[in-house]
Amino acid sequence: MDLVPLTTPSREKLRLAFTVNGEPRDLVVESYKTLLEVLREDLGLTGTKHGCELGECGACAVILDGELVLSCLVAAVECPGRSATTVEGLRQGPELHPLQQCFADHGAAQCGYCTPGMLVAAKWLLDRNPRATRGEIAEALSGQICRCTGYLQIFDAVEAAGRTLRGEPAPAPLLPSVHRGSTNGR
Ligand code: FES
Ligand code: FES
Repeated sequence: MDLVPLTTPSREKLRLAFTVNGEPRDLVVESYKTLLEVLREDLGLTGTKHGCELGECGACAVILDGELVLSCLVAAVECPGRSATTVEGLRQGPELHPLQQCFADHGAAQCGYCTPGMLVAAKWLLDRNPRATRGEIAEALSGQICRCTGYLQIFDAVEAAGRTLRGEPAPAPLLPSVHRGSTNGR
């Protein structure tokens, strides 16, 4: 029997010129890729996390032209000319974004895998609704799955960041061991 050499099928390339975190980027990528893959693999922006790839976990959330999207469900071919904000774009120069600072202060990250998506979704919310209530925060983050179940601290952090962004004093973080007891329950 003659063996037939396997050949790699040719893949089309895509010229992708778009804006990421305020910077124009112009690159050539495999046309089958998702926005998530372009961000992580072609641009090295690994803050955006690769979770389920099914639109279920929220780990890959980014802001695209002002809308919160799941980058695992956005094809790269949809992105030319558009503007994306990832978690790397939250930081303002050397300063952490208030959301980042409040997540740190409130212990809102445990393993941290969900944190970039949480931060981006929370920024999207507070940009639109700086006075978001606890219920509105919970609703806005309902698509972001935290496997460590740290939701109380996350909601605390987003509330505190909202106050900071409004120029209001934010209460000191509640320390679980002092205020919440061993169950963290409130
Ligand atoms: S990786 Fe995109 S929603 Fe889970
Ligand atoms: S902190 Fe671990 S998944 Fe949310």
